[in-house]
Amino acid sequence: MSSRSYIVRVIVLTGAGVSAESGIPTFRGKDGYWRNLDPAKLATPEAFAHDPKLVWEWYGERRQRIRNAQPNPAHKAIARLAQCANEFLLVTQNVDDLHARAGVPNEKMVQIHGDIFVTRCSCCDFSDVGNGGSAALTALRRDRPEPPTRGQLRLIGPTSAQNERLPCCPKCSAPMRPGVVWFGEQLPWKEVQRVENYLDRGACNVAIVAGTTATFGYIVDWALQASHGGELIEVNPEETPLSTFATRIMREPAAIALPRLVDEIINS
Ligand code: OAD
Repeated sequence: MSSRSYIVRVIVLTGAGVSAESGIPTFRGKDGYWRNLDPAKLATPEAFAHDPKLVWEWYGERRQRIRNAQPNPAHKAIARLAQCANEFLLVTQNVDDLHARAGVPNEKMVQIHGDIFVTRCSCCDFSDVGNGGSAALTALRRDRPEPPTRGQLRLIGPTSAQNERLPCCPKCSAPMRPGVVWFGEQLPWKEVQRVENYLDRGACNVAIVAGTTATFGYIVDWALQASHGGELIEVNPEETPLSTFATRIMREPAAIALPRLVDEIINS
């Protein structure tokens, strides 16, 4: 990077495809979650109200799969870029901790759809960072804790068969839920502010969008705003709504394309 004579501002927007090669399923891809499972039954506040046990089981399985996974060369390349760029922000839709475990510092990363290892109250502001891990803790701790257990959080009594052994809030007794954004919910305001503040400070020389179908308008908007006047590089084996705006397209798996791309940026 030192050979560059201008400030390199970078934004990277990632989605499930970046973790695919770590063995984490995508949502809409060939073996994606939403091919066999109904998001309305697992990833909405209504689903949680209707059957919290089912929802917790699904998130428990996902937590376990993530704990067993390792960052792949795509995560590591992004972490390298975070270290080398003069200004850097990663906006990930992924709720896993693989970017953090690859070495992207918390202050350079926004998890816009939350953190699967956080457990928070469904009613009040109580958040059990000790039991699931905030992004900051995530970066520090490799050994992920188990989902809530008896004694760590109060549990809803065994009189309710459906809610048996589910965690409830020590402050207000409402059910505790995974700290992720579900369909129909607002994005976390503070995290949106962090993205918008970064974009308001100026356009980026390079915007990389990797491993996302760019289904959500805010991802498209942020990518276009960031790349205004600069490069917009798409890393995805498939076409997306952003493809027509991209100045460069890498139709390859992220674990292949990103290490090469980051080498190019760093050495240019
Ligand atoms: P999707 O499952 O919608 O898209 C995954 C994208 O990754 C697709 O465009 C694939 O072509 C691409 N892909 C697959 N394998 C890849 C690889 N090895 N390298 C690079 N790209 C690859 O996942 P997201 O776009 O992340 O939200 O989905 C966005 C949100 O929708 C998720 O955060 C989740 C989901 O519903 C909620 O649960 C609220």
